[in-house]
Amino acid sequence: MSDLIGRPAFPNLTELELPALESGINVADGHARYEPSVSQHKIIDRLPELFCQAAETPVSVLDREAQRAYLTAVGQHSALTGTEVLSCYSSSVAMEIFSLALMTCGVRKVALIHPTFDNIPDILTRAGMHLLPVAEDHLLDGTAGLPAGIEVLFVTTPNNPTGWILSRDALAHWARICASRGIILALDTSFRGFDERSCYDHFSVLAESGCRYVVIEDTGKLWPALDLKVGFLVFPPDEPLPLRRVYTEILLGVSPLVLLLVRCFAEDAGEGGFAELHQFIRSNRDLLRGRLAGAEIHSPDQASRISVERIAVPPGMSGTQVSSALRRRGVHVLPCGQFHWAEPEAGAQFVRVALSRPPGLLRAAADAILGCLRP
Ligand SMILES: Cc1ncc(COP(=O)(O)O)c(C=O)c1O
Repeated sequence: MSDLIGRPAFPNLTELELPALESGINVADGHARYEPSVSQHKIIDRLPELFCQAAETPVSVLDREAQRAYLTAVGQHSALTGTEVLSCYSSSVAMEIFSLALMTCGVRKVALIHPTFDNIPDILTRAGMHLLPVAEDHLLDGTAGLPAGIEVLFVTTPNNPTGWILSRDALAHWARICASRGIILALDTSFRGFDERSCYDHFSVLAESGCRYVVIEDTGKLWPALDLKVGFLVFPPDEPLPLRRVYTEILLGVSPLVLLLVRCFAEDAGEGGFAELHQFIRSNRDLLRGRLAGAEIHSPDQASRISVERIAVPPGMSGTQVSSALRRRGVHVLPCGQFHWAEPEAGAQFVRVALSRPPGLLRAAADAILGCLRP
């Protein structure tokens, strides 16, 4: 939403995350800021050696190996042979390329999951798309109506901030509908590494349906790699959108060192690292819920396994009030209005707390939240 000269009416989530980088307790952004595991430390300790290895290896090999390691670790075996994959510096860069490709082809009408991380509607809107909100429940039970003229159905699964996931049956349902109506099915699966339930082979379901699809995979939320990450733009080789052309207008490729690191972290994830990460996030979620139990607060997303947790603030308060009061105490959480991009009031009751943090930091954040709610 913006005024007549394009000045936004309110800050976006990333703008709200920025002050948290300066000082205080940062449980605002969803980046991985936890202490590396023993095996992740071993990778980091090998950085000089990996630098030399990356310099000496053809980048096409590093690219292929990073893609193979990541897609295998998250169970996307059919993507290894039946798709084209473009490695980008982040999932937002992949999203930007996708949106520009849509714009180039005159696509304008996108049905988009609601709520979701606000840079997805923002990037699509800036590329000239008209967005129609689609509720999670209606995607799951198949009742979401896609009016005539919808050209893209875009689903974030697992969804940020709710942790909601699109089941295999629901994916198959929407893939069939998209195939029969010529709609492009687009998925952002940035958080799938946190939740085994979204590691079924999406690409076999998509290929079986014969629908057009574009999937944005992402390593960026998973490992404490100081934002050395990639977003993968994945689509069938015969997809007519000019994705490769737009990609090459923006990128030659991703740093060989980043590709090699992604391969190492992904292989580690496949060999037990994901199990360790899931346990770590579960334990942090339990810690937060336990600490806040008894206060007039609840967690609306009981089934969520992703690395962020929404909490509903008590009646009579708003997420914006609570996050502002916390900020004055040096504690940064996100209010949730902006996730509800079509209806910000629907998110007014919630704040979001990042869980991919050292437990001590999370404990301090929980205590500050409690303190802020006491009269
Ligand atoms: C679902 C989702 N997709 C994409 C992004 C953008 O990620 P990045 O900043 O690494 O490009 C985010 C950021 O939080 C996200 O939550």
